[in-house]
Amino acid sequence: MIQELQAKFIDLYSVTPRMFRSPGRINIIGEHTDYNDGFVLPAAIDKEIVFAVAPNTTGTFRFYAADLNDFGEFPDIVPQTDKKWANYLLGVVAQMQKKGFSVPSVDVVFGGNVPLGAGLSSSAALECGFAFALNAIFDFGFSTIDLVKMSQLTEHEFVGLRCGIMDQFAVMFGKKDSVVRLDCRSLEYQHFPFILNDYAIVLCNSNVKHELASSEYNVRRHEGEEGVRVLSSHYPEIRSLRDATLEQLECCKSELSEKSYMRCKYVIEENQRVLTACEAMLRGDVEMVGKMMYATHEGMSKLYEASCKEIDEMVDIARTSSAVVGSRIMGGGFGGCTISVVKKSAVEDFKQMMNEQYYKRYNTPSVIYDIVVSDGTNEIML
Ligand code: GLA
Repeated sequence: MIQELQAKFIDLYSVTPRMFRSPGRINIIGEHTDYNDGFVLPAAIDKEIVFAVAPNTTGTFRFYAADLNDFGEFPDIVPQTDKKWANYLLGVVAQMQKKGFSVPSVDVVFGGNVPLGAGLSSSAALECGFAFALNAIFDFGFSTIDLVKMSQLTEHEFVGLRCGIMDQFAVMFGKKDSVVRLDCRSLEYQHFPFILNDYAIVLCNSNVKHELASSEYNVRRHEGEEGVRVLSSHYPEIRSLRDATLEQLECCKSELSEKSYMRCKYVIEENQRVLTACEAMLRGDVEMVGKMMYATHEGMSKLYEASCKEIDEMVDIARTSSAVVGSRIMGGGFGGCTISVVKKSAVEDFKQMMNEQYYKRYNTPSVIYDIVVSDGTNEIML
């Protein structure tokens, strides 16, 4: 892939580009906790987007999306465009310009193997990879956390998704063989070894594609904020759901809409589950991590209402196997992948069972990925 994209770039622009890679991410546990100031436990993976980038002297940004075979050319005062994929790149330029940096025009060829709309953060991979490349090529001196925040704002302002910081953080700060526990309020983080003993992670794609910007994602975020307004009128120390307890929520129940109550309950419980799962992982208790993941799925499906029937069935199928200790919907929801923790010795049987059962119900295969936990965004030294 790297050689192909580099060759394509040279073919199009007749100069040798610098090459960068930017990974997708998984999340062990902690969904929809990031924008509630809570905790998450993601890791970068070996599915990635590769970029070939070089400055040009045309005064226009020229982007070629190899997988879509689509080309876009944009002026250096970047507008939002109808070409959805280009907004992820243009938004990054706009963020740098907002910070007072003049961003010279570049040529870009990119492509990769992070499946789209699957909950593996292809969009964060795109934003972060381009932000990293511009910072490296023009020596802007942005810190990694600056690049993370600019990529997140790209999503807010150019894509229309009021996402939290987890995806961009995981993509940039990922480390081989490690998960990162991130406190989304203080941004303090800790890498710890991703050791699952006799177990492996398996991702199963339902092929129900989600497009979060047009989904209920922003609505969920809003419903949680509604809850915080009521909670903080009784308990002024509550600034976000991170600060609230279930007891406090119960006390305010009568003043909350049913939906808002359900969303808040899920988030408060999910935060606790992340902490429990982290402790369990540190002492090698993979079964407990799995138990928390099943509970997350229940919450995502019944309280947060961010699952879908195909994914619920995938988790039900996983539950029928004694080799699986945990399984749940992963990422923003409304489609995408499940993440399951499966006994290593039974992974092949599990994949076969999932494929057969899913096919029987939906007449379409689920696509299954083995993943390796990898480093975050970096330059490829050829
Ligand atoms: C999406 C968002 C993240 C996070 C997850 C849900 O991936 O980009 O910020 O909110 O959904 O955990």
